[in-house]
Amino acid sequence: MTTAAQDSARDLPWEELTRAATEAMGRAYVPYSNFPVGAAALTEDGRIVSGCNVENASYGLTLCAECSLVSQLQMTGGGKLVAFSCVDGAGNTLMPCGRCRQLLYEFRAPGMLLLTVSGIKTMEEVLPDAFGPEHLTDNSAQ
Ligand code: THU
Repeated sequence: MTTAAQDSARDLPWEELTRAATEAMGRAYVPYSNFPVGAAALTEDGRIVSGCNVENASYGLTLCAECSLVSQLQMTGGGKLVAFSCVDGAGNTLMPCGRCRQLLYEFRAPGMLLLTVSGIKTMEEVLPDAFGPEHLTDNSAQ
């Protein structure tokens, strides 16, 4: 992480985000795994959006907490994410799964930071060399 990212990490409301993630976790629908997850993120315009996992009898259709979060982001005005926190049923920091890192990458603001099990990290650190929207622009000639 760069010094600029370290400076911005200090100013972010990590406790508030983790509190919002924990509250969201309390709404999880997890009759199959019994593994509730909550996620919360700060948007560029200062909103806090959150989500919980929602499972399904057809197990593979389970929606992760991050799916719910990006849906709420879009439904409450859109925008990009600045900071992210995710918790398990005990309120401990949880790493987003691979698919969810991709979901978050789509909506990252420049310099987005994540609270992880090994400290605060940039989006690029948790999903290096990512495929993203930038790869789909003007590829008509290929
Ligand atoms: N889960 C999430 O909600 N987000 C993640 O990033 C990791 C996994 C959920 C999916 C499933 O309901 C439960 O955790 C167990 O895999």
